[in-house]
Amino acid sequence: MGITILEALNSATRTFWEKDIENPRIEAELLIGHILNLKRTELYLKGQIALSSKEENILEQLIKQRLTGRPLQYVLEETEFFGLKFKTDSRALIPRPETEILVSKVLEHFKNRETDSLKIVDIGTGCGNIAISLAFNLKNSLIYATDISPESLNLAGENAKLNKVDDRVKFLPGDLLTPLEDENLKGKIDAIVSNPPYVLKEEKELLPKIVRDYEPEIALFYEKGLYQRIIEQSLVYLKKEDLLALETGYNQAQKVKDIIETKDNFVSTEIIKDLAGIERVVLAIKR
Ligand SMILES: C[S@@+](CC[C@H](N)C(=O)[O-])C[C@H]1O[C@@H](n2cnc3c(N)ncnc32)[C@H](O)[C@@H]1O
Repeated sequence: MGITILEALNSATRTFWEKDIENPRIEAELLIGHILNLKRTELYLKGQIALSSKEENILEQLIKQRLTGRPLQYVLEETEFFGLKFKTDSRALIPRPETEILVSKVLEHFKNRETDSLKIVDIGTGCGNIAISLAFNLKNSLIYATDISPESLNLAGENAKLNKVDDRVKFLPGDLLTPLEDENLKGKIDAIVSNPPYVLKEEKELLPKIVRDYEPEIALFYEKGLYQRIIEQSLVYLKKEDLLALETGYNQAQKVKDIIETKDNFVSTEIIKDLAGIERVVLAIKR
């Protein structure tokens, strides 16, 4: 008889802890939950059930892969974002939980406009997490999702199919909003959303090794002036009284807010903090 779920959890946690993997218990739960297709709480309710030898083998293989330093989401090839499943691999950044704040703020902006048909743009869509979560929750929306990385767009396309919104998300390759030029959308967009790359190349060494070794550089590092370009291009496409929502890195929100406020074209700008108290999202409404 093989080891029980609880024994497997304890053993994987210990292995991860010994190898200095952050959050060893959570990683063990996610790994074993993935293999057995069980939620975290179910792992404990069914803790005395034994793993089959096939499941034990898979567990051993996946632990080995994780111990090479590869992020868990790339090892499992999936993650959850805003309650939906997303395929994840080295073609795109792993969605971060704090980006869910950006999505919820956009949904909040439209909560009384559920009957309108909405056009929204997601700049730098990566694996498609923002665009797809918006399409899934705003059934009347059409989302345009751009990215400079064709590999990311391929993955995002697969994720749109997985979440059955591929008929309402249009993927466009290219720089920021330039792929929209042929779409006749100037002054017609209800919201522009972006979680752009927000780490300076010079700050690469400050990133955790697991991030800089495995996630695509194009998703992490930006050239100076990127937010400025996003803000200027957004003005051309946004409708009056509609929303620009930008995620920002540590210590950047106020600077982004200042850039927005130098333009006369926006009313009310607001900074939203994440659960760690870090200023994370800047919201602005076009005049
Ligand atoms: C920080 S990642 C965000 C990915 C995803 N939206 C998320 O929230 O997890 C930034 C994304 O912007 C894309 N990107 C970088 N420069 C770009 C540009 N000039 N135009 C369009 N996309 C760009 C990258 O390829 C990457 O997918």
